[in-house]
Amino acid sequence: MKPIGFALLALFLAATPRANAASTGEYLARAGDCVVCHSQSDGAPYAGGLKMNTPVGPIFTTNITPDKETGIGLYTFEEFDRALRLGVARDGHRLYPAMPYPSYAKITTEDSRALYDYFMNDVKPVRQVNTPNAIAAPWNARWPLAIWNVLGAGTPFRADPDHDDLWNRGAYLVQGLAHCGACHTPRGWLFQEKGFDEQSGAFLAGATLDNWSAPNLRGDLNSGLGRWTEAEIAEYLKTGRNRHGRAFGAMRDVVTFSTTTLDDDDIAAMAKYLKSLPPSIDRHQSVWVYDARTRDALSKGGAGAAGYARQCASCHGLDGLGGADMPPLAGNAAILDPDPTSLINIVLNGAPPPDEANANSGDSMPQFRSFLRDRDIADIVTFIRSAWGNRAPAATEARVGELRRDTTAGAERTVIRQMR
Ligand code: HEC
Ligand code: HEC
Ligand code: HEC
Repeated sequence: MKPIGFALLALFLAATPRANAASTGEYLARAGDCVVCHSQSDGAPYAGGLKMNTPVGPIFTTNITPDKETGIGLYTFEEFDRALRLGVARDGHRLYPAMPYPSYAKITTEDSRALYDYFMNDVKPVRQVNTPNAIAAPWNARWPLAIWNVLGAGTPFRADPDHDDLWNRGAYLVQGLAHCGACHTPRGWLFQEKGFDEQSGAFLAGATLDNWSAPNLRGDLNSGLGRWTEAEIAEYLKTGRNRHGRAFGAMRDVVTFSTTTLDDDDIAAMAKYLKSLPPSIDRHQSVWVYDARTRDALSKGGAGAAGYARQCASCHGLDGLGGADMPPLAGNAAILDPDPTSLINIVLNGAPPPDEANANSGDSMPQFRSFLRDRDIADIVTFIRSAWGNRAPAATEARVGELRRDTTAGAERTVIRQMR
């Protein structure tokens, strides 16, 4: 290790792009996307109450406005920092990892301090009593979290002196505040993330959460960002779209409230770091099977091809190549994702454009839950995963049925109005 380089790097990381402490904290709160979880769609920012579905049951986020009775107004900096980075609340109970503290463990003390100053001084106190959680046994006893923390907790950020400042800034943001891994890293037997940085081949290798699939962000050519350039990754994070596709589902909130609001330098840093990740070694990547259903969907006149021609081709084209205002379906990483969850979800429920305010009216993906049966949707999704050179496993009717039951059209959160 070169000590001088390391010290300079630490200085660089601490030197955040805002002049005074309060606005630095606000910028960091956006990088950490605190508002998306700690607010309800029409509620006051940071007053909590959002219901999150977790594998152990629904959990409600808490009020983190500085209200002394119902919020975090009584938290000292040390208590706030311990909640943020170690997942321990003021009264000593352990927080559920629905709060992404395993990632936030990477936040520097300076940044944690700036966040604290922002929440205490600039956020409006709101009186709103927290909703109790409805977690089933044995998870309602919070003690298993102590074991979980040993297995899954992240460690503090360590800059890598073999890489330049930009790469290290990107690593710091992606692993830490931006908690990309909380959604994009596969989880193990106790729901712990399988890796927290580039030392693990499973880090950001793709995972399924709450009716969406957060795809592989590593260098894999098909179901990864292997075909995206660094500039294209940056464009996607900055605007919610690029020539490969658009942000939808849970990613749309990330783009709207967090990445579109960050400085170009930070976006470039994240893109540089992501582009440096080698292909995945996690066999979450399932294998394409040329089975009878796929053959049927592919063969001329197969139900999937016919359904596509009838329902989808008017917008997406028969060649699947997309156009100026239309994401391509051929070679699209979201379509090559081994897990078809996001695709089935978007066909069932549709998707508004990423930047609703600036979009033309014809610019959204319609819902098909009212027009197509589970079988039709499974056939069409299998078809688009096998046509135009795409190779990804078939979608099943049973999975479409499950997602039809567990999702609703238009339920996607769009704006937390007071934030915009
Ligand atoms: C992915 C969703 C999510 C994000 C993003 C998130 N939180 Fe949380 N947070 C939660 C949940 C859920 C809880 C409650 C956990 C529990 O009750 O065990 C929580 C609890 C907390 C607590 C403890 C509050 C209390 O009531 O004692 C603090 C402090 C906190 N979060 C701060 C933050 C800050 C600051 C950020 C942004 C840097 C943030 N959170 C981002 C989900 C989130
Ligand atoms: C709350 C969960 C969540 C978080 C946090 C999250 N993502 Fe995503 N992301 C998703 C989902 C779900 C998708 C699939 C939908 C889509 O393609 O828009 C996705 C898609 C993407 C894609 C498109 C990939 C493709 O193959 O089309 C990129 C790139 C991406 N995310 C990058 C990031 C980065 C970088 C971060 C951290 C700054 C991040 N994501 C944080 C859930 C999340
Ligand atoms: C009325 C025009 C229209 C029709 C019909 C239509 N789509 Fe779309 N679709 C869109 C638009 C616009 C988007 C981009 C929305 C977004 O993600 O912001 C889109 C997005 C998608 C995406 C996400 C691609 C990505 O990476 O962002 C998939 C997958 C998709 N459509 C599949 C289908 C399928 C399958 C059908 C037929 C069942 C279909 N679409 C019918 C307009 C249409």
